This record gives sequence, C-alpha cells and structure tokens, in this order.
Amino acid sequence: MRVVKIFDTTLRDGEQSPGASMNTDEKLQVAKQLVKLGVDIIEAGFPIASPGDFDAVQRIANEVKGATIAGLARAKEADIESAFQAIKDAPLRRIHTFHSTSDIHLKYQFRVSREEALKRSADMVKLARSLTEDIEFSPMDATRTETPYLLDVVEAVIEAGASTVNIPDTVGYTTPAEFGDLIRQIKERIGDRAVISVHCHNDLGLAVANSLAAIYNGAGQVECTINGIGERAGNCSMEEIVMSLRTRRDFYNAMTNINTKEIIRTSRLITRITGMQVQPNKAIVGANAFAHESGIHQDGLLKEKMTYEIIKPEDIGLNKTELVLGKHSGRHAFKSRLTELGYELSADEIELAFNKFKHLADQKKNIFDEDIEALVSEEVSKTPETYSLVDLSISCGTSVKPTAALKIRINGEVVDKVEHGDGPVDAVYKAIVSATSTQSSLLKFEVKSITGGTDALGEVAISLKEDGRTVRGYGADTDIIVASAKAYINALNKLVVRKKQS
Ligand code: KIV
Ligand code: ZN
Repeated sequence: MRVVKIFDTTLRDGEQSPGASMNTDEKLQVAKQLVKLGVDIIEAGFPIASPGDFDAVQRIANEVKGATIAGLARAKEADIESAFQAIKDAPLRRIHTFHSTSDIHLKYQFRVSREEALKRSADMVKLARSLTEDIEFSPMDATRTETPYLLDVVEAVIEAGASTVNIPDTVGYTTPAEFGDLIRQIKERIGDRAVISVHCHNDLGLAVANSLAAIYNGAGQVECTINGIGERAGNCSMEEIVMSLRTRRDFYNAMTNINTKEIIRTSRLITRITGMQVQPNKAIVGANAFAHESGIHQDGLLKEKMTYEIIKPEDIGLNKTELVLGKHSGRHAFKSRLTELGYELSADEIELAFNKFKHLADQKKNIFDEDIEALVSEEVSKTPETYSLVDLSISCGTSVKPTAALKIRINGEVVDKVEHGDGPVDAVYKAIVSATSTQSSLLKFEVKSITGGTDALGEVAISLKEDGRTVRGYGADTDIIVASAKAYINALNKLVVRKKQS
C-alpha cells in the first residue's frame, strides 16, 4: 500500500489565519507535537517575512528532530537565501519556493509574461537546489492556470531540480472531479520523476474532498493544517484527510505515517494556542463528533458500536475521561499520568505543574485528564513574567457595585489597586490597567469550562492589541474571575516579549 506524505503547514499557512499568530515558544511546542503526531514535513514558516519568523524557523530547525523542516520562499534570491539560512542546521531540510502561474496573477499582480514566470521559477529552483537537495516548487493559483502552460512549468522545475511539485488550489476554486483530472494529467506526464503534492484551500468547503480526489489520482503528498486553520476559510484539515484515508483504506489504497492517537491532543493544543475554537459539529475533532443524540442511534450503539460509529473515539486519542487523580495523589502518580498522556517534561516543569495540581486538588475534588493538560500547557508555554498576580478579591452581586482589589507584582515590586466596574471582570481589568499603566485594547474575551460540573476549571482566553501587535492571553482556574485576571496578565507579559523581540 502506498504511503501519502503529510506536509503540515499549520505554522505557516495556518498562522496566516486572522488572529492566529503564535510566538516562537508556542511554535516550538507545536512543532514538537507535530513530530509526535508523525507528520513527514513541517513547514515551519516564511523566514524572510520578519525577523520573528526567521528566528522561529531557525529554532525549529535546530531543536526539532524527527521530521523534515521546510522554509517557504518566494522565487527570489533573497527569500531562498534566507530560507536556507533558517533551515540549514536541520538534519532533514527542504526549501519550498513558489511563483504564480495563472494569467490573472501574472497580468494583474506581477506584471510578467508567462515566459518570464517560467524562467524565474526554473532559475530559482536551480538556485535552491545548489544550496540543499530537497526542493519543492509550487505554481501558485495552479487551478486557474491553463493546463498546457502549467505542465510546461512543472516540467521546467523538475528539470531544474525540484523533487516535489505542489499543485495549490490557492483560492479554493476547483472541484473534486476537475482537480482529480488535473492531477491525473500531471501524473501521466511526470510519472515518478517528482512527488505530486496538493495544497487546497477551503473557500467552497471542498479542500478535503479536492485533496482526496488528488490522492486517488496519484498525488503522493498532501498539505494540510490542524483543525483546518489557514488563510481565509482555511486549508485542508489534517485530521479529516488522515482519518478519511484510514477509514476508507479499502477505497484509496493509501495510508499515512500519522499516529492517529495524537490527533485530539494536537487539535486541542492548536485551539489553546491560537484561540481559534473548533466548531462543535466539525468532523473528527468537534465536541459532537462522537456524541449520539437520537434514541435509535443510541439503541444501535448499545447493541453494536459498528451500527453508527465508523471511527473509534480512542483511535484519535479520545479516551473516556477517567477520574485519575485527586488531593491524595502523590508526585509519582502525577508524573506517571503525565507520561501516559504523552508529556515529556523537565524536572522543573514537572515540579511547577505538580504544585499547581496540588493547588487545584484543594479546590476541586475530581481531576480529569483535561484538567492536567490545561495545567501542563500553561506551564510549558510559560512566558517570562514581568507581571504576576499576587492576590485578588472581588465583591459583586445584585446589591453591590462590582469592585476588585488587586495586588500585582510588577518587575518584583507589589502594587495595590482597587477599581469598580460594570461587572467583576470589568473591575479586575480596570485594576490591572491602572496598576500596570498599560494601554492595550481588549479585542476578544472567551470563557469556557474544561470539564463538566460547577467545580470545573474555567479557561479564559483573550486577545489584546497594542501598537499594532495582537497577542493571546490564557488563564485557567476554578474561579473564572481569577482565570480572567491570569489571562489578561499573561497577554501583557506576551506583549512585553513581543516588544523586546521587535
Ligand atoms: O495557497 C497557496 O497557494 C500557498 C502557496 C504558497 C503554496 O499557500
Ligand atoms: Zn495556501
């Protein structure tokens, strides 16, 4: 059975989703999780785009082993040089370069002829190939490019040294039958001289269907993102394409190297870091994907799971939440549960997470896997703390004006503030703003409970904007007002880091 390579572009195209930007530490955390998931290639970013992007790609190339690390580059000398510098220390590395080929792009955006575009594409592939071996070329807007010209470009870049030719449906315009036919024609023309990759956008909701049609017709690599995030309506969703190939192996006769049991954990990590929530009815990773409501379905399931379930929840790592730990659990039990959940933490990180766990166990009787995951990811993605919460008391209700009394540590010094607000969160945020003398604007405030029950850990995610920089702040606590304060302070700390970086 042939293996279709999974090229993950969550850190590049995924990060192009409005509001989904990630800092370098978060990108590293995602890249390490992608390796556990078993992706073949990680597109770590677009190094020439900014010093921050360059730095993130370079750190991933240096620190993440187990997948090919790709850097994106326009078909320009400076881009290719920058991509190479960023990835050069990775044991497995790839330069992914691209140039538009559709008449619409060539005429209105780049103002170059077809001949010039073809020559530049081939020349830049040659340049990239002189730096490293593994080269991918993408004719951007391929699905709106005249096929004979597209085939000429494909031939030229293979001749110049590209080992993968990626066919992007840049604007999500194609249809499964049409795209399948295009891939078949390319396959007939190039045979095994290069791997055919596909990169589909979801503007018409067809990204996964188009990618599957391509695989059926000979594509050997698929570009996708976790939760389908990406530019505009997003990219082909990794979990959907992987589970389609797995569930319908009989039809596609193709498999991937993905360890599907890591799917749900990866999906949750991306949600937590980007703040982009997954719709409840989303295939595979939506909250309702395995929830059976109708009586007839429940009856069938109780008799035999196969009646209404085509994927086992445990195949994507969705184990029934067991009561795992509580107040009396020790360090050893906590550590072994972390290992079972797939975390490899340093001794210091374990110690910090354990202290938080003990604190949580004092407030909440039953601690579930999701609670532990929230604690750990808060610890692992920790941002250097210019600000930290020391103490918070709130008074609110139907007959008092909501008031927050805050103690916050700012660069080691504790500052007290009392503020009133329209509600408790408003009062806390006013107190933080006046204590820190910061001027960011709150773009988004989201709160959700991690597990059921009134003692659930509440998770708050916010977006703050200052001087054109947007960051996500995150906080978890059994008290949602405290979680709200933590989220705001976390966002302020991230703004400090972003300011220093730029
Ligand atoms: O959508 C697109 O065409 C791209 C290319 C850079 C591959 O993202
Ligand atoms: Zn794209």
